[in-house]
Amino acid sequence: MAKKTNIPSMKSLGRKWGGTLDQNLAANQRFSADTDPKKINLGVGTNVGSDGKPWNQASAFPASLSQLVSNIGEVCGSYNPATDVQQAAAEFVLGQQLKLPSSIWNQCITSFTAGGGSGAVGRAIDFVTAQHGDIRHLNLQQYAWVGYDSIAYNRGLETRPIPIELTKLPRKGLDVLQTVHNGSGLLVPGKNWKQAGKILTHRDQPVILDIPYTGFDHAGLPYDEALNRSAEPLLTLVDAGAPVVVGFGPTKVFNTFKYRPGGATVVICRTEGEARHARNRMISNARGGTGFIDIATYALMKAMAENPEGLSSDHAAILQRLHQAEQDWAKYAAGSPLANFFNSGYGGLFRILPVQPGTVEALAEQHIHVVYVDKRLIRINIMGLPHGDQTEAVVRAISSRCTDELPKTLRPFAV
Ligand SMILES: Cc1ncc(COP(=O)(O)O)c(C=O)c1O
Repeated sequence: MAKKTNIPSMKSLGRKWGGTLDQNLAANQRFSADTDPKKINLGVGTNVGSDGKPWNQASAFPASLSQLVSNIGEVCGSYNPATDVQQAAAEFVLGQQLKLPSSIWNQCITSFTAGGGSGAVGRAIDFVTAQHGDIRHLNLQQYAWVGYDSIAYNRGLETRPIPIELTKLPRKGLDVLQTVHNGSGLLVPGKNWKQAGKILTHRDQPVILDIPYTGFDHAGLPYDEALNRSAEPLLTLVDAGAPVVVGFGPTKVFNTFKYRPGGATVVICRTEGEARHARNRMISNARGGTGFIDIATYALMKAMAENPEGLSSDHAAILQRLHQAEQDWAKYAAGSPLANFFNSGYGGLFRILPVQPGTVEALAEQHIHVVYVDKRLIRINIMGLPHGDQTEAVVRAISSRCTDELPKTLRPFAV
């Protein structure tokens, strides 16, 4: 009898996967395939100029990176940025961006990581789950940013939905909450943050705030005021005494898309003892990841330390551009249901709109590209609206597809 040979199946790196690629990727492919020179991209999550092209007017981060590259011989030989650069960069994030009072800075552990805001949120999750082995899932606000799915999946965690307005906070799992909700643009009222702060403090339950859009929720206000208002949800949780970890993302606020420097993970401790343990834990967490800073992140940290005014001025310019787009939508949508998405209950780059079925395809025929959330909902990046000849036609094209059938979970909150 012939001897049976065991042939290896060679599938272990390519096992069947039941998932689908997200709609954002599909929309990008459709946009790239469109050859019309006047095509409009409302599908991507990027900053867009008034000419409809990716916004490229930031100068502070590019200048810092270019200087580092030209001095490259000097940086070789050392792993980490000098302590004074790290300290100044951390203070920039804590004070200038997050508006945390300086009295608590020495109880905050700030860790810079690679990979934009995604890296910062990922490190925040790893920091918490390393100490709470019972956490098996993330609690995410409904209709949240699709990137959370892979952040969870890569860590073997499940995801569960919670109401956007935070009226139910489960005891189990790790809450990852947004202060500017991508995708709906809905802003959670202050009283709901207050209630959440009370509950999380009482349970001593860690919460992650994902903050890649400082100021985007109040883009029409003067710069300092916009940042102060934007920090209110975080300060409300901190004042209540809740155990908060922030994932601070730089990509949108300083327009660092192309080189993807990392953001900062900030652990806001309540006592010196908690901070001492958190510091050691963070060093240990960082060691096996991107504990040593890459050049793009170092360039951003140097800009924070040496040119904070330059970063703030880039940031202010992006907020102005966002506000210009908000005003254009409000103006040309006036009198239609679309106008309701541009009142004070909304903010940030994105909106989820109720539409007739077939809308993505119908708009693509008109060279306007948007993302499906489901058959009757689309997500748009409002900054993708060019300011000029096409503005009115684009707003009207979107408005003509809108219905008034917004699902209950996406309706504006009572303030
Ligand atoms: C809510 C939210 N968190 C995190 C991120 C990740 O940001 P980054 O592109 O800097 O990784 C995004 C990006 O769209 C986002 O919308």
